[in-house]
Amino acid sequence: MSLLEKIRVTQTFLENKGIEKPEFGLILGSGLGELADEIQDAIVIDYADIPNWGQSTVVGHVGKLVYGTLSGRKVLALQGRFHFYEGNPLEVVTFPVRIMKALGCEGVIVTNAAGGISFGPGTLMAITDHINMTGQNPLIGKNLDDFGPRFPDMSKAYTPAYREIAHKVADKLGIKLEEGVYLGVTGPTYETPAEIRAFKSLGADAVGMSTVPEVIVAAHSDLKVLGISCISNFAAGLQEELNHEEVVEVTERIKGDFKGLLKAILSKL
Ligand code: HPA
Repeated sequence: MSLLEKIRVTQTFLENKGIEKPEFGLILGSGLGELADEIQDAIVIDYADIPNWGQSTVVGHVGKLVYGTLSGRKVLALQGRFHFYEGNPLEVVTFPVRIMKALGCEGVIVTNAAGGISFGPGTLMAITDHINMTGQNPLIGKNLDDFGPRFPDMSKAYTPAYREIAHKVADKLGIKLEEGVYLGVTGPTYETPAEIRAFKSLGADAVGMSTVPEVIVAAHSDLKVLGISCISNFAAGLQEELNHEEVVEVTERIKGDFKGLLKAILSKL
């Protein structure tokens, strides 16, 4: 089956489950998945039941698609995203974004945990732009002309108007929201200190193992994007050592603010 055929099969499957016209897609990274538990009048579907869908393998990432109302908006949330380092082809990693577009979403909110180059643990950072250091691109292969052009513009992949709203809402709530450039790698290793020095000189403010493929596919089909990173640690060389436990601990500590911010933003988008 071609990618376009797979998209249509899955779209029809989800429409038949009662998922119609979501306004926003939510791609919830480490620690934030439980925001989807707050969705009202929810239709919840296990990833395992959805045709052409990937399976998530990381602890802390539940595998459920949740549709319903959050902050008065119709949302389609991924509770558990797919990473390239899990062995998923990028077509699988980004398939949910294709589906969000196909079902009629106007925009997507993408969150992640990231290592801080310019900012320390506990910082929330609105993503202004990214640097793709994965050596991959999810759009390689036959172009889906129904979705977008062969050579998509990435000049405003992270929608400035959405970011402006995010800052206004954060100010109102008294939550500090920084902004910066996210540099995407494949992982699963954390970076070396030399890599982080190099990335800093390239203009990166934070580094992480997700988001870039999804945002490329969103930009391809003109989906608007708000990206927010939760800085969970100083990047390699800027602190003594790195471990996943710290990432989980810091995202747990921040998630109250993070969820509150996202819900308030959603009502204003
Ligand atoms: N590097 C890459 N990905 C990450 C990091 C990091 O330091 N922290 C959380 N995700």
